[in-house]
Amino acid sequence: VLSPSKETSPLVFDASILQNETNIPLQFVWPDHEKPCLESPPSLLHVPPIDLKAFISGEPLAASSASLMVNSACQEHGFFQVFNHGVDSNLINEAHKMMDLFFGMPLLEKQKAERKFGEYCGYASSFTNRFSSKLPWKETLSFRYSADPKCSNVVQDYFMNVMGEDFSKFGRICQEYSEAMSKLSMNIMELLGMSLGIDPLYFCDFYEENDSIMRLNYYPPCQKPDQTLGTGPHCDPTSLTILHQDNVGGLEVFVDEKWHSIAPCPDAFVVNIGDTFKALSNGLYKSCLHRAVVNSKTPRKSLAFFLSPRMDKIVRPPKALVKDASERVYPDFTWSTFLEFTQKHYRADMKTLDAFS
Ligand code: SIN
Ligand code: FE2
Repeated sequence: VLSPSKETSPLVFDASILQNETNIPLQFVWPDHEKPCLESPPSLLHVPPIDLKAFISGEPLAASSASLMVNSACQEHGFFQVFNHGVDSNLINEAHKMMDLFFGMPLLEKQKAERKFGEYCGYASSFTNRFSSKLPWKETLSFRYSADPKCSNVVQDYFMNVMGEDFSKFGRICQEYSEAMSKLSMNIMELLGMSLGIDPLYFCDFYEENDSIMRLNYYPPCQKPDQTLGTGPHCDPTSLTILHQDNVGGLEVFVDEKWHSIAPCPDAFVVNIGDTFKALSNGLYKSCLHRAVVNSKTPRKSLAFFLSPRMDKIVRPPKALVKDASERVYPDFTWSTFLEFTQKHYRADMKTLDAFS
């Protein structure tokens, strides 16, 4: 089964050959206590559906019901879904099509964008990492997005610089998709501000010039989905994650000491609170452990937008959420120091924010 890729160095697993093998390399086999239980599928997590159009319309009843639902979901587990979000479905479909094309390319092509050690941008594949353990069954492509007007084409430029002219359409779609996510995140921040009972525009200002990360996830089929994970258990260190998953399913969240799945719904975005927003909310809102499982039949794709503040922003809860300094749950930090910490010390099973602060 350790079939070396024909087209690249012999230190690489060939993902397309592995898909037809009945066993998977040991490096992908997770410890028993972390393996997913696929015989009895987990129960569905209740993730409240938020009608964003009704919220934005400013109709008081819609706004207060959305803000109450978000408040209780965020105190319980930090996950909710947004519908009527205003993001063009053609753009979402185009982004998925581009992902199919990109991840379907030969490894050598994808490696033009290879992510360097310690960096967060570029193409990364567990299938090229033979000398490791607990490898996740996936490939990813990550890039930076900035809402600073001086960086108005940062995504498209990245694609052109790293992948070349042929990728200008992919770059344009990813640029537009990231802009749509940044815009959507402002509406969600307004909702979060209202749900915490503070000035609804407070977090919109805080994230106006966000310096965010986009990650495209591709999970090939796996003949032993009960032995491995697509993404290991983790909390997102960023502020807010806006995820679009295709209709295959695989996202799971750890609530009440059990794993629960989130049913895919292509009309919705799954939103979850990350560690940085947990700190901003003075620990009131949860950043919950989650993971992705794989299956033996269908490749799965998801697109994650990780909203993050500008690098030098000081993460400190608004005064209204801290009546007295002794109530502070986490000390002040800048996003850049926390990001650097997560890159150096990240372990899938670690509570990164607690270890950092
Ligand atoms: C992640 O949380 O990093 C991935 C989630 C998913 O692919 O559903
Ligand atoms: Fe995540």
